[in-house]
Amino acid sequence: MPTSTKKESSLGHSYDGIQEYDNPLPSWWKWLFVMTVVMSPFYLMYFHSGMPGRSVADQYQVAVNENTRKQYAKIGDLEGDEATMVKFLAEPEWVGVGQAIYKANCVSCHGAEGGGNVGPNLCDENYKHIKQLTDIVKVINEGVAGGAMPAWAKRLPHKNDAILVSVYVASLRGSKPATAKAPDGSPIAAWPQGNP
Ligand code: HEC
Repeated sequence: MPTSTKKESSLGHSYDGIQEYDNPLPSWWKWLFVMTVVMSPFYLMYFHSGMPGRSVADQYQVAVNENTRKQYAKIGDLEGDEATMVKFLAEPEWVGVGQAIYKANCVSCHGAEGGGNVGPNLCDENYKHIKQLTDIVKVINEGVAGGAMPAWAKRLPHKNDAILVSVYVASLRGSKPATAKAPDGSPIAAWPQGNP
């Protein structure tokens, strides 16, 4: 029983013989409460500001994508031909892997959602160096504009990386990023559809 010098005052409530006393909360408890209140705006700003990659859901998705990338054995060594690209465009799990590769390497120049920055907008209908799906793989592997768009063939650890990030880039077409640069280049024909 804690000893108290103060006379304890009852609130006069009694439930089943249990009386309610007006004791103060322990100071450690009150400080914990104050600290959670002080922390909450920072927590809110950090995790709920809408910045990509911060929310628990985003972090989970990144972990899942990285894990899938470790499972390249399942798909073998891909070729960057049209049939392969069309096939993987229809597989969200692998488009997600492409997205993980994009997030790690391309965001600085093309924006978090592909809206463009130093590099062009990848979400609109206009392209500078691309007429068909396979051109994306070529541009990414070999680079263009004298290295302004770097060649990734030797930088990405696995050959599949360039192909899957190309699939992700293809999937961005028609999406509406929050910030988008004006279209560059000329409009091109729609991507071919897979056989359902
Ligand atoms: C250092 C900046 C930089 C980085 C990093 C970068 N790019 Fe680029 N990218 C560019 C620039 C600049 C161009 C446009 C070149 C031009 O104007 O001819 C470009 C062009 C492209 C194009 C062709 C667009 C078109 O309209 O024809 C694609 C596709 C592309 N980049 C994909 C990627 C992907 C995928 C990555 C990550 C693996 C990446 N880029 C990383 C700067 C970059």
